[in-house]
Amino acid sequence: MTARQQVRIGVIGAGLMGKELAGVVGRWSALQQSPVDPVLTAVCDVNAPALDWFRRVGSVQTFTTEYRELLDGSVDVLYVAVPHHLHEKLYVDIAESGVDFLGEKPFGIDPFASATIGDAIAGSSAFVRCSSEMPFYPGAQQAIRYLQQGSAGRIIEAEFAFLHSSDLNPDKPINWKRQTQFCGQIGVMGDLGMHVTHVPLRLGWRPETVFAQLQELVSVRPDGKGGTVPCDTIENATLTGRVGTGTGTFPISLQTKRVAPGEMNTWRMRVVGMDGGVEFSTRYPQSLRVMTVRDGAQVWEERMAGSQSAQPTITGPIFEFGFPDALLQMWAAYLAERAGELGDAFGCATPQEALASHELFDAALVSSASAAAAPVAAGVRRRHTAADVSGVLGRD
Ligand SMILES: NC(=O)c1ccc[n+]([C@@H]2O[C@H](COP(=O)([O-])OP(=O)(O)OC[C@H]3O[C@@H](n4cnc5c(N)ncnc54)[C@H](O)[C@@H]3O)[C@@H](O)[C@H]2O)c1
Repeated sequence: MTARQQVRIGVIGAGLMGKELAGVVGRWSALQQSPVDPVLTAVCDVNAPALDWFRRVGSVQTFTTEYRELLDGSVDVLYVAVPHHLHEKLYVDIAESGVDFLGEKPFGIDPFASATIGDAIAGSSAFVRCSSEMPFYPGAQQAIRYLQQGSAGRIIEAEFAFLHSSDLNPDKPINWKRQTQFCGQIGVMGDLGMHVTHVPLRLGWRPETVFAQLQELVSVRPDGKGGTVPCDTIENATLTGRVGTGTGTFPISLQTKRVAPGEMNTWRMRVVGMDGGVEFSTRYPQSLRVMTVRDGAQVWEERMAGSQSAQPTITGPIFEFGFPDALLQMWAAYLAERAGELGDAFGCATPQEALASHELFDAALVSSASAAAAPVAAGVRRRHTAADVSGVLGRD
């Protein structure tokens, strides 16, 4: 057996997601056959106290508040999990330094930032992918394979959604994701959108036009210091697009919602065609539903999804799969692809897919402002301003 290549990983942004990486690396032995052996060696955060959490990870040797210190070749891969307004600066700097990285979505605050990041990556030798872990649920993987095999036949319609509900509580304090200056004019689409576009884009389903209904539901939130501040991001976005393929044109629905009562963290997809259909939701992660016509009867059958995703693990096939497993799968896919050993397995979202998502969200803003369907323009490089956002339901 050949020795596995050690990969030194550094985290930039020691917040919610940065900490998750420590858990992923700690569970690496659950993978059956990874070509690499990742070691978390460095952490960076401008907020020095945030670094302290990482002192429990024995392999971390570098603690810094300056991300440029991690661009000197001392780490092989960076995980960048910082607020959206910082993506452009950091991702461009890292790409120009030639260090490989997995960057958090949405890969820039607007299409200009995303295209600028794309240019820097195109001119760099760095291997770069965008974070999006939900499609790695086994049920989602099986649904994707079903569709790639053409089992649904001519597609009638498709729906993809990512739904949250904690914003239903008006007393939940503000954070940067609820403030346009940090999250972007695209609001919830920047936060949750890459999660719903990853699979359709991978299937080659790029909407040609989109009609968007954007919704403001909570305009003020506690500031955590006894006062209130504006909560100026769009909470919910419902996009209806038209997708043209070689076998016909069909409607696609893409929903991202921060106020979807009862849905804590639900990622779901549903596609039906003339020969069959498939449905999966992380709300019911153990199963997927498949539609077949049997003896003339239309049957939605429930298939057990099991624990195995794109990268085999030692986990018993009958056991349950969860969010940390999806992150492990995403990282296993990233590092396998970086090592040239992904093969036919499902890969992480690409910078091109991130940019295509931004083009879609940009068309959604245009649609909302005009109350009409808008074309999804490739190559759009717009800096968004407040003037780009109008027609929002709840702001009239
Ligand atoms: N993939 C997912 O499921 C998922 C879930 C949540 C968030 N995210 C994404 O992860 C990213 C971070 O979100 P989060 O929830 O972890 O945010 P967070 O606020 O919990 O953490 C962000 C951290 O970045 C630090 N930071 C800010 N500026 C920095 C700089 N210049 N250098 C180093 N550190 C800096 C902050 O101090 C903070 O600790 C965002 O892009 C977000 O969209 C992804």
